[in-house]
Amino acid sequence: MLTEVVRVDPVHPDPHRIALAAACLRRGGLVAFPTETVYGLGVHALDRDAVLRLFDAKGRPANDPLIVHVSSIEAAFPLVVEIPTDAVRLAARFWPGPLTMILRRRSSVPSEVSAGLDTVAIRVPAHPVAQALLRAADVPVAAPSANLFSRPSPTKASHVVDDLGGRIDMVLDGGDTSVGVESTVVDLTTDPPVVLRPGAISLESLQAVLPSVTTRVTRTAGEDAPMISPGMLSKHYAPRAPVTLYRGPAARVRTAVRQAAAVALARGQRVGVLATTADSAAIEGLPVVVATLGDEGEAADVASRLYAALRELDAAGVDLVLACDVRRDDGLWRAIGDRLSRAAASVVIVE
Ligand code: TXA
Ligand code: MG
Repeated sequence: MLTEVVRVDPVHPDPHRIALAAACLRRGGLVAFPTETVYGLGVHALDRDAVLRLFDAKGRPANDPLIVHVSSIEAAFPLVVEIPTDAVRLAARFWPGPLTMILRRRSSVPSEVSAGLDTVAIRVPAHPVAQALLRAADVPVAAPSANLFSRPSPTKASHVVDDLGGRIDMVLDGGDTSVGVESTVVDLTTDPPVVLRPGAISLESLQAVLPSVTTRVTRTAGEDAPMISPGMLSKHYAPRAPVTLYRGPAARVRTAVRQAAAVALARGQRVGVLATTADSAAIEGLPVVVATLGDEGEAADVASRLYAALRELDAAGVDLVLACDVRRDDGLWRAIGDRLSRAAASVVIVE
């Protein structure tokens, strides 16, 4: 299969190019497009065969449900049994934007989209290219992140081509995505609503609208199946080289990373380091490949750099990655810390 890469202006996309991509989606094609979080790989959500081709192209297990993207809350009505008041409130504040809501699925949505669950994940993205595409296609679009399964999500069109070139029909190249981590997934079918995946919208901002929203997994007695997003079970977002995540006070982490780097270098290994500018001072003078995440005070910068940095270490062919964990758990840091932990093969806690 030939993958066509079509450049579009990220703010004012050319309607003719959008129309081409929309037509491709309508006939069951696989089209990658930018959203404000990461690139998505879209298919017509009501076309079961196209949905199956999507799972195949990504190498994604069938038990990992997809997010259905629509241009407005109204476009979600035919897909869900109801939109509870809490969901309406969240939508009024955060849609279009990086929030995904789990709602009760109507049978019009193929069960494959939801991996057999009776719920469906709905998101109204804000990116002008995503909005234009959804409006032109005029069908709901199921879109996971446009990476091969378990690899870091793509924040550039080149990331999509690296992973999926030759396996999909088209990539709309609208430049770098701005947020860099995926949408926040919140389950509105439970009381209280539960955040299943921390993401671009912080728990604090959700709670400002709905104080009851929690990240707590509440279980009834005797039930030991944890309520988490099914796709969150497996290793995710990882580069090819194993990542060791160092967690603890800054000075101790820096010493430990420097020692580990020196040991690996002595063994003749190619070492990659993933750290903020301040933490990367730790390995000054050592011949390692550094992917910096930016200023440790700027969560937005760190989030937007995270996946590109992981992919840069892959491209440099490192044998292992030493990563310094983030030291905060508020706002966007929660999502960044979550993705780092999922990318890590092991965690070293220094005290
Ligand atoms: O920012 C994003 O959300 C990006 C862009 C492209 O929209 N998409 C994305 O999709 O990250 P994906 O497939 O990589 O992640 C979807 C997440 C998974 O954790 C999945 O388990 C969860 O949403 N999910 C989807 N449907 C669900 C459902 N019915 N119940 C619970 N979790 C669900
Ligand atoms: Mg993904």
